Amino acid sequence: MKTLVIGAGNMGLTYAEGMAKSPMLGRRNLMVFDKSADVIARLREMDHFDVYEKLEDCLPQADMVFIAVKPYHCEELFEEMKPMVNKDQIFVSLMAGVTIAKIQAGLNAKKVVRSMPNLPAQVGKGVTSYTESQEVSKVELLMVRNLLDTTGESIHVENENFIDASTGISGSGPAYVFYFMNSMLEAALKMGFSKNDSRVLVSQTFEGAVELFNRNDLSPDTWMDRVASKGGTTRAALDSMDDNNVKELIKEAAYAAFDRAVELGEDK
Ligand SMILES: NC(=O)c1ccc[n+]([C@@H]2O[C@H](COP(=O)([O-])OP(=O)(O)OC[C@H]3O[C@@H](n4cnc5c(N)ncnc54)[C@H](OP(=O)(O)O)[C@@H]3O)[C@@H](O)[C@H]2O)c1
Repeated sequence: MKTLVIGAGNMGLTYAEGMAKSPMLGRRNLMVFDKSADVIARLREMDHFDVYEKLEDCLPQADMVFIAVKPYHCEELFEEMKPMVNKDQIFVSLMAGVTIAKIQAGLNAKKVVRSMPNLPAQVGKGVTSYTESQEVSKVELLMVRNLLDTTGESIHVENENFIDASTGISGSGPAYVFYFMNSMLEAALKMGFSKNDSRVLVSQTFEGAVELFNRNDLSPDTWMDRVASKGGTTRAALDSMDDNNVKELIKEAAYAAFDRAVELGEDK
């Protein structure tokens, strides 16, 4: 199965690197196309995939096409692709906010999978949600899933509303975690720790907490209770967060991203 990645920026390159390691694909079946001369030069130097500068040299032979350009570039790209598209090709979009209907109309194609990746895909710890048009068969969807899983885990969702919703949780989510980390780093620096020690304190705390959370099915509330004792230090911190409504504010932030994802989809 020949697979083409269009747009070798942050996301496209991450997926290409992941898929190159997949036994299902391997280098022989992986093509990468980008329009930026700098990117092409860098990819050729890396020598991890077959790199193409012209769409007509790669698109017609592809069975599956990952589209990873910025959403505002999609119209111009679709125009260029449309005359070369065939009805059996499967298009997997990594673009935020671009609907399946828009991709089908733009490419005159039927088989479309829309996905929402996230940045930790770069270290093989990504989570990608995905959904498909009705013309994609179960076997084809399984092949897509296998490729998405090369960058971490994936979850299949029923419809595009959940793609927008997962933008608010996992797509934008890494930034919420960095926001929280930033606040803790600032507090550590203010308490007098060096930059390096602050970094170790915060980073190990996050990594350790996530590892504990993943170890079994205990809820975050149960873990909080295990750390916090009545009248103790952790309880003082958690009470302060509750008094300041931090939990509701975080939920509101996730909904702000969800709403914006819907809005961006409507604009396009
Ligand atoms: N980064 C994230 O965390 C994240 C998370 C979720 C979803 N996404 C989605 O992933 C997609 C890619 O984002 P990114 O951050 O990887 O973007 P990016 O780094 O800008 O990469 C896009 C690449 O595509 C190239 N390109 C633009 N138009 C093209 C065309 N017509 N044909 C071929 N190549 C073209 C760009 O070249 P130029 O630079 O010359 O334009 C660039 O090299 C976006 O749609 C975004 O919504 C990203």
